[in-house]
Amino acid sequence: MSNSFAGKVVLVTGANSGIGETAAALFAEAGATVIGTARRKEALEASRARHPKVKWVLVDVTNAAAVKDAVEGVVRTHGRLDVLVNNAATFTFAPLDQSGEAMIRGQFEANVYGTIFVTQAALPALRESKGSILNIGSAAGHKPVPNGSIYGATKAAIESLTRSWALELAPLGIRVNTIAPGPTKTPGFAAMGGSPAEKEAITAAMVGQVPLGRMASTEEVGRWIVQLSDPSVTWITGQIFGVDGGMSLT
Ligand SMILES: NC(=O)c1ccc[n+]([C@@H]2O[C@H](COP(=O)([O-])OP(=O)(O)OC[C@H]3O[C@@H](n4cnc5c(N)ncnc54)[C@H](OP(=O)(O)O)[C@@H]3O)[C@@H](O)[C@H]2O)c1
Repeated sequence: MSNSFAGKVVLVTGANSGIGETAAALFAEAGATVIGTARRKEALEASRARHPKVKWVLVDVTNAAAVKDAVEGVVRTHGRLDVLVNNAATFTFAPLDQSGEAMIRGQFEANVYGTIFVTQAALPALRESKGSILNIGSAAGHKPVPNGSIYGATKAAIESLTRSWALELAPLGIRVNTIAPGPTKTPGFAAMGGSPAEKEAITAAMVGQVPLGRMASTEEVGRWIVQLSDPSVTWITGQIFGVDGGMSLT
């Protein structure tokens, strides 16, 4: 693979933290013009300081009108869009009877509606560039997730959208794939909710399902986000790639 993103414009949502931040930095290293989104001003400024090569845009992906403005602004400024990485998401694990309305709506709004809104806004530019969409799913999208069913359902929706969009957009030359990580060390994972003892139990249960027996680093996931988005990858669409230490086998 060439890893040559010279002249290519890449948009990564939720790029101020975790997997998205690492992916944005790796795309920039590979020569892409990278636009990272953050939803909080202070997070955006801190990210700008850490990653001066990345351009930053403030947007909450749950706000369809703001997303449209932000994506159109990116395309106006940079002239094109080649790769969209739908990474922004929230995750809160809780048993069903402790999953409140705000938590349920919040996860569906960020993880599912947000992905749809950003993709809709990016479509005209992706159609022009015959670009690609890489969604960040999760092993939780195709495995049962006791005590995390709401999050799992949002990621199952991502897999469904990926397959439908791959067929719908193939005639336009747009490819759509998903990377489905297993447990990965990120600020979001560390803040997933619950008491320290509950978090420890959830982490142990997850790692117990990973044949390679540990959590991933963001580099181990981010590297594949970049590889699958490489301009030389022209013949893969509609696929869900487990980058999960074998978790999908268990
Ligand atoms: N870590 C894991 O174990 C794991 C496993 C499987 C899949 N994943 C997936 O990997 C992706 C990245 O997760 P991560 O672990 O890197 O999480 P993270 O550290 O919490 O980063 C998530 C990013 O998404 C942003 N975001 C959330 N809601 C948003 C909204 N409404 N509008 C705009 N941005 C929003 C966050 O912004 P704020 O900083 O403002 O919150 C943050 O930048 C997610 O799709 C997640 O579901 C993670």
